[in-house]
Amino acid sequence: METERGNKFIELQNIIKTFGQGDSQTIAVNDISFSINKGEVVVLLGPSGSGKTTLLNIIGGIEIANSGKIKVADHQVDNMTDKNAVEYRREHLGYIFQSYNLIPNLTVKENIEIGAYLAKNPLNVDELLKDLGLERQANKLPMYLSGGQQQRTAIGRAVAKNPDLLLCDEPTGALDSQTSKEILVLLEKVNKKYGTTILMVTHNELISQMATRIIRMKDGQIIEDKANDNIVSAEALEL
Ligand SMILES: Nc1ncnc2c1ncn2[C@@H]1O[C@H](COP(=O)(O)OP(=O)(O)OP(=O)(O)O)[C@@H](O)[C@H]1O
Ligand SMILES: [Mg+2]
Repeated sequence: METERGNKFIELQNIIKTFGQGDSQTIAVNDISFSINKGEVVVLLGPSGSGKTTLLNIIGGIEIANSGKIKVADHQVDNMTDKNAVEYRREHLGYIFQSYNLIPNLTVKENIEIGAYLAKNPLNVDELLKDLGLERQANKLPMYLSGGQQQRTAIGRAVAKNPDLLLCDEPTGALDSQTSKEILVLLEKVNKKYGTTILMVTHNELISQMATRIIRMKDGQIIEDKANDNIVSAEALEL
């Protein structure tokens, strides 16, 4: 996808994030700039400790960068009050983690309804349960689900509010290859059906084949940022 001026949905400029002080200081994100257009599926690759989660958290308004500018939609994320940060996350963001973080004493349907709660434009939860292939699990508690079903529920919770941006941190990290594929097929479907922009962190090179763009990080820096000219559908990935 071409990066056009004015069409940028996420824009980062010279983002720096350090942890600790003095000799024990770590530069987790070291002067990163890039932009993402609406509707892109961007895969972020890089070794452990390269700063992927930190970068995702900065975009999600969870961590504050030491310096640099970041804009998502019309929100200046680097310069928000706590109240604005809550609103920004509520309006625009869905978050999916490697560990599903479901609420154990709520059913599948209730966990998904939590995501829709307070949203301006929530999706219909019954239709979503169908899309997720979770109709028969709707009234079960998470402990009675497989890992893949739990992650599908977590995706449901994240997309129920119909966010513009889905931030995924190793969403298939805890799953076997067949179940991983199901999850990736589902994320692809969300991107196609709702136009949701997806930024997905993974260790798995093979997953990057489904991306519109592949960004590689090392030691807090971007070492490669390229469009994928040969996009493979999630279904056809050989994981
Ligand atoms: N809260 C924190 N306090 C101190 N150091 C931190 C903190 N969070 C991250 N770091 C450090 O920042 C660097 C980047 O960490 P980050 O979690 O972003 O890496 P990552 O690429 O997500 O790694 P992984 O693939 O293992 O999840 C690491 O050196 C890490 O130890
Ligand atoms: Mg991480």
